[in-house]
Amino acid sequence: MSANTKQEKPWNGRFTEPTDQFVEAFTASVSFDQRLYQYDIQGSIAHATMLQKVGVLTQDEQQQIVDGLKTIEKKIATGEFNWSISLEDVHMNIESALTQLIGVTGKKLHTGRSRNDQIATDIRLYLRAEINHILLELKRLQMTLIDLADRESDTIMPGFTHLQTAQPVTFGHHMLAWFENLYRDGQRLADCKKRTNQMPLGAAALAGTTYPIDRAYTAELLGFDSVCENSLDAVSDRDFAIEFSAASALIMTHLSRFSEELVIWSSAQFNFIDLGDAFCTGSSIMPQKKNPDVPELVRGKTGRVNGHLISLLTLMKSQPLAYNKDNQEDKEPIFDIIDTLRGSLKVYADMMAQVTVNKKAMYQAAKSGFSTATDLADYLVRADIPFRDAHDIVGQAVRLGVETCRDLSELTLDELQSFSSKIQSDVFDILTLEGSVSARNHIGGTAPEQVKQAVVRARERVS
Ligand code: ARG
Repeated sequence: MSANTKQEKPWNGRFTEPTDQFVEAFTASVSFDQRLYQYDIQGSIAHATMLQKVGVLTQDEQQQIVDGLKTIEKKIATGEFNWSISLEDVHMNIESALTQLIGVTGKKLHTGRSRNDQIATDIRLYLRAEINHILLELKRLQMTLIDLADRESDTIMPGFTHLQTAQPVTFGHHMLAWFENLYRDGQRLADCKKRTNQMPLGAAALAGTTYPIDRAYTAELLGFDSVCENSLDAVSDRDFAIEFSAASALIMTHLSRFSEELVIWSSAQFNFIDLGDAFCTGSSIMPQKKNPDVPELVRGKTGRVNGHLISLLTLMKSQPLAYNKDNQEDKEPIFDIIDTLRGSLKVYADMMAQVTVNKKAMYQAAKSGFSTATDLADYLVRADIPFRDAHDIVGQAVRLGVETCRDLSELTLDELQSFSSKIQSDVFDILTLEGSVSARNHIGGTAPEQVKQAVVRARERVS
């Protein structure tokens, strides 16, 4: 990027003194908004095509502009374009290059348009495309979790509340819980895309334009669902970006929670899963270490995205209508959210596809935590004991188990009957982990049979 090449600024007619050099660098956005170049050119081509349709540009002028913009697009893509800070932003760099390339006709491109509606359009086009990429990454992760749930539909693990052993669940059921989180995330993004896909172009600086523009035609050329209704709103609204950031922050928050589990589960103490060497790193001092860096880093990166959401809300909170230069500050948070989110979703889908599950350790852990205590209480309720009394009886049995280091299924029938005469030998069927999970056999329950059915439904929902 050339900082020193002084370029004629498109707006300097009313100025008598040059911009302070530091101010020029301070106010420039081209170092980061050049990322929008394809969308800026796409918008300009549609604008010029519309201007020709309504008779503001001739066919020849439109053709020169379109050809020129396509040449510039290629130059940028191949790294031959010389971005200039004195031309401030992506818009003025491209427009100025166009005029250099095709001459005076290039100066007609900006007719009936302002950078205010131009940037609002660019960022919506860009975000729309990125939401599509993110939805694909999200779907890949969703499918990976469904496959894992399918494979592990009858793998038993302890289910936790307060991170204490609660009741046995199936690992497949647990994976599908995260799938539900990510499914809602996909819906939120798709919903936010609807409000992103509306076209600000035509609002010009703030009040609209005196040219006989055909906004519906431009919107059609650009694939927008509709045009923004109000010109003041069109140039100043960044709600769609905030909604996108909120949806992204929630995705990262879900991945962060999931990461916490993966970190715990892959520890030597739990040993429930193995994350695969490709997704872990070692320690420079402790030879035995295999650290779960990927989930840790995703958990850490959640802070950035959640922070960007607050940045954008704060950016907007005091802005009067209509466009204000403050809005230039929306780009870097949005770009960083997209990079972070796309990276996190990609690495997660790759990692989860290679997770191996230690069924034995999970089973053992489920067995050692009195996870079938509720099943025994339910058994007593079926034998006509009120639930509160049943709860108390089982509590006494658990105390004996704790004192003698045995699970409920390892107590003798005599011992169990000493707490309640209603207990019969069939009690052992429900005290097993298999019996416990299979008994929760209703929609949304953890029974392997239900997990299999939920997997089928999940596949249908994402396809
Ligand atoms: N770089 C500006 C932005 O990101 C483009 C619009 C500038 N408009 C203006 N009137 N200064 O918002």
